[in-house]
Amino acid sequence: MNSVPATDPRVLSGMRPTGRLHLGHYHGVLKNWVRLQNRYECFFCVADLHALTTQYEEPDVIRESVWEMVIDWLAAGVDPKAARLFIQSRIAEHSELHLLLSMITPLGWLERMPTYKDQQERLKEKDLATYGFLGYPVLQTADILVYKATLVPVGEDQVPHVEMSRELARRFNHLYGREPGFEEKAEAAVRTLGKKNARLYRELRRRFQERGDRQALEEARALLDARQNLTLGDRERLYGYLEGRSRILLPEPRALLTPAARVPGLDGRKMSKSYHNTIGLRDEPETVAQRIRTMPTDPARVRRTDPGDPDKCPVWRFHEVYSDDKIREWVRHGCRSAAIGCLDCKQPVIDAVVAEVKGFRERAKPFQDDLGLVRGIIAEGTESARDVARQTLEEVREAMGLVYR
Ligand code: TRP
Ligand code: SF4
Repeated sequence: MNSVPATDPRVLSGMRPTGRLHLGHYHGVLKNWVRLQNRYECFFCVADLHALTTQYEEPDVIRESVWEMVIDWLAAGVDPKAARLFIQSRIAEHSELHLLLSMITPLGWLERMPTYKDQQERLKEKDLATYGFLGYPVLQTADILVYKATLVPVGEDQVPHVEMSRELARRFNHLYGREPGFEEKAEAAVRTLGKKNARLYRELRRRFQERGDRQALEEARALLDARQNLTLGDRERLYGYLEGRSRILLPEPRALLTPAARVPGLDGRKMSKSYHNTIGLRDEPETVAQRIRTMPTDPARVRRTDPGDPDKCPVWRFHEVYSDDKIREWVRHGCRSAAIGCLDCKQPVIDAVVAEVKGFRERAKPFQDDLGLVRGIIAEGTESARDVARQTLEEVREAMGLVYR
């Protein structure tokens, strides 16, 4: 078995195609993807199967959203040359790994997921007491592990799912990561480090295993990372041996919490389709300007002469995202002293958001005019992602005893 440990961090994230994207998606998610794509190997997944877990009665929504969502990604600056963009359902390995992982997923882990009960509460009109919906985090785990991704940029609400993927990876490695004669092979690998480094490795391993010394663990990992000439198999063994595990077949991913000051919705609540408080990524500039002009402000500022408090005003939150220090100072002072009116205050926000939306619209145009371009990008990304997924599945099948020669 020559499973490939992801020594270079690999990023995977996904988005469900359930409607058009808005500025909340841009500032909360896509901007971060764009930043990551230039630093790491990135996989960005159109999670249509995930959409199906809740929208199984409305296949039209999914069909209509897929291409539009990819155009929104491209408009936001996601670059198909830097990242692989693909559709989940077109890579059957996601589904296969989901099935295989379901064999080792304790029911209790799924029933305890906060999102399971929350979503059922929130989407009361839908029957979400389904097998597919219960398995949502297992499918997400498959998305991540099928590429051995180690970094998963997500919002707060998704952290429990990434935690679950760590647990599942660990459980998988525990159950299937043993190879015959592991100890002997690991010891032989230690010897290939050379006398001095072998002694150091053993010492660090002992410090970690006996005293849980994390520093020693980090040092030992650094020692391995610096050894260019190790075979992949030995590198993996040495990693696993270090921690008292055997081989790491599927690396444990971790959540990368999206930083960023988020734009709120036009009413100050979270920007969300269901609140009808969004600005679409590709909305008409006139519509955008109009919607910002009419958005609510500090309710205490009834008349132009009443002073206001930016901290109680959703417009201020837009300034936090869109304005520089100078404008912010002008707002804070002008609002509190009633020196400026709310429309004056909104104008720089309108200018900035309109400029942003115009940029998105321009970048989207060639793709809107020729959907073939988008299909081509996805076809290429899907092929290339599938190559990676296929290799993982070979290893997983073999580990689970499903290879017959
Ligand atoms: N469940 C995620 C969401 O609702 C979308 C998603 C699907 C995802 N697969 C993923 C996110 C894998 C991160 C990694 O936002
Ligand atoms: Fe809000 Fe600006 Fe009006 Fe103050 S002046 S209440 S910050 S819109």
